Amino acid sequence: MKGVVVIGTQWGDEGKGKVTDFLAHKADVIVRYQGGNNAGHTIVFEGKKFALHLIPSGIFRTDATCIMANGMVVDPKALVEEIRKLQKSGVSLNRLYISDRAHIILPYHKVLDKLYEDMKPPHKKIGTTHKGIGPAYFDKYARIGIRVVDFINKKTFLELLTDNIDYYNRIFNEFGYEKLSISRIYEEYSEYAMIMKRFVTDTSLLLNQMIQVDKKILFEGAQGSMLCVEHGTYPFVTSSSPTASSVPLNVGVSPMYITDIIGVTKAYNTRVGGGFFATEFENEVAQYIRETGHEYGTTTGRPRRIGWLDTVVLRHAKRVSGITGLAIMLLDVLSGIDVLKICIGYEVNGQNIDYIPARIEDYMACKPIYETLPGWQEDISQTTSFSDLPVEAQCYLKRISELVGVPISLFSVGPDRNQTIVLNDPME
Ligand code: GDP
Ligand code: IMO
Ligand code: MG
Repeated sequence: MKGVVVIGTQWGDEGKGKVTDFLAHKADVIVRYQGGNNAGHTIVFEGKKFALHLIPSGIFRTDATCIMANGMVVDPKALVEEIRKLQKSGVSLNRLYISDRAHIILPYHKVLDKLYEDMKPPHKKIGTTHKGIGPAYFDKYARIGIRVVDFINKKTFLELLTDNIDYYNRIFNEFGYEKLSISRIYEEYSEYAMIMKRFVTDTSLLLNQMIQVDKKILFEGAQGSMLCVEHGTYPFVTSSSPTASSVPLNVGVSPMYITDIIGVTKAYNTRVGGGFFATEFENEVAQYIRETGHEYGTTTGRPRRIGWLDTVVLRHAKRVSGITGLAIMLLDVLSGIDVLKICIGYEVNGQNIDYIPARIEDYMACKPIYETLPGWQEDISQTTSFSDLPVEAQCYLKRISELVGVPISLFSVGPDRNQTIVLNDPME
């Protein structure tokens, strides 16, 4: 059996959707294991472009099973919209399953997300997606969350919803926010529950049955290692763990079934939302990368902040997840830049370090140490093999692999499924 994990190694938007969709043609089942519709995963094929927020990026492969696992937080309204959009495009959802143990995002989570952000001074704002992710995970760990299994039971849903809205309305009242109506939310969301019901099952049971018959499983991460609530740039993180270690817990399978871990990285670096990153820069080159790479958020449309590739970050991701192969994305975007920089370490108070300091102020004191490499001018978007690349691009890829200490599984020279070059196929 195969258990291949696709994780983001940076601050999200590395191209996980593209990699998952690409590898999914050899997978029997694709599983999203954490996060919610804060994610935006773009898939391009046959001249069509899709943005998925909740449903696994394997959904376009007609014979693959897709699972939304227990570690996810699911906004039923967003899910129903996504289901309808896919149905309209003729995509079959017959093989979609939703865990009965996943948690539900309700309107009060979105209000709380805004409230927590509004309370903070500008430099402390996380810049969340306002999708209610943090507050939904908060409820989960406070043991007042509503799980899918309880959501699709009308009586239990009403009971839990009433308790929670009664409680949160007192907070909203205190902070001058509008109170929410239990009956209005119950009516609207009961309809979504009825639509979702047919997809709901014990997905851990289902996955373990598939493991017994030697199926190939692809686990699709959302966000990136630096947004991990455990190992990221806390508090400027999301509220779940996008690492490979988070897979077993969040899907209900043993860790021994993970065979490969693909670390997806851009050929440079981006970040959207608040929080420091060491290699950020803003000039005409950054603007060129932003426009060439269409670096605007898939979920929120915000311009993404641009930086040079940071191998301290990649080694951090390797350390906390264990990466067996790299997927280096958006290499084409760097065509036309004369000199490329790669961060190989940090200098802080006269010392060189190779880790991410836990304290945010200490991280902010880190100055990147750069190595420079010559760029290339050629358009590489039609490249079909490593040896077709200009020698400078080959050197750039080799150097990344060397600095991270991980072989390259694949690299990507454009958004389309076909613009992918495989060096070591993790699905074989
Ligand atoms: P994800 O959240 O990790 O799935 O990544 P996003 O979909 O949010 O952002 C990645 C963006 O890069 C999307 O617009 C993709 O279509 C695009 N993309 C992925 N790979 C490549 C590539 O190799 N070259 C170019 N130019 N675009 C790419
Ligand atoms: P994908 O899966 C990029 C960022 C937000 C914010 C922080 C917390 O497409 O890579 P949240 O709404 O999760 O509480 O926001 O995390 N963020 C992402 N950035 N890609 C994502 O997902 C992200 N999901 C959350 O911008 O800084
Ligand atoms: Mg994204």
